[in-house]
Amino acid sequence: MDSKAKGEKMYPIGYEPKIEITEDPNVRNQLLNEILKVSPSEVVDTDLFAVMTKRRSTRKFSDKIVETEKIDKIIAAADTAPTAGNYQGFEIFYVKSPEKKKQLIDACNKQPYVNAPVVLIFCKNPSRVKFDFPEEVLKKFAIQDATLAAAYSQLAAQALGLSSIWIGMLDEKKVMKIIGTKLIPSSVLCIGYPEQQKYPKPRRNLKDLVHVVW
Ligand SMILES: Cc1cc2nc3c(=O)[nH]c(=O)nc-3n(C[C@H](O)[C@H](O)[C@H](O)COP(=O)(O)O)c2cc1C
Repeated sequence: MDSKAKGEKMYPIGYEPKIEITEDPNVRNQLLNEILKVSPSEVVDTDLFAVMTKRRSTRKFSDKIVETEKIDKIIAAADTAPTAGNYQGFEIFYVKSPEKKKQLIDACNKQPYVNAPVVLIFCKNPSRVKFDFPEEVLKKFAIQDATLAAAYSQLAAQALGLSSIWIGMLDEKKVMKIIGTKLIPSSVLCIGYPEQQKYPKPRRNLKDLVHVVW
């Protein structure tokens, strides 16, 4: 994304949060901090474990528009995720074009719900990971960075009363062409208000999941 100078050259064109930045050298990212501090327009779930246990994928979104301040927070949440060496080996593509969202349906195995109110594509960017390790290792770090970031956004969406569907079934080349990047996508996160609230899906027994090693 291109950057546009606005005092501190921090805003990509088409994504300009209406937030006043006050400089504080003790904060790791002023814009991120300000976005996350903005009070929500409605009550959010601040209990992390409640957010985790209630989350349920949604494939039917209502037409209700997602508020800009919620989108800001979902994106900012991704930026709080840990990354290998703090090199942030990922990028987020926020797809606003209705036409491109429609094209993404085909690029994602014809899954119609990809045309969601908010579509975020998380791409790997191993070139940002400046460790002196083999390329394969840097690629592994980048996919983990991108995946973690998307997971943080997914939880943030849930906390904000939204729902989402994680799309992993995608044609990398088609997605890259649509969004105009050489970076390989790892997931598409589709977000919106759910048409109906559903119960979370069951998981296996913890005793079958956890393997204790002494
Ligand atoms: C790596 C990964 C890939 C996924 N790919 C798709 C996908 O392409 N299409 C889809 O409809 N759901 C996809 N999902 C969503 C899962 O089907 C869903 O998370 C799973 O059924 C568990 O349901 P829950 O999220 O409600 O707990 C994917 C999830 C993950 C983590």
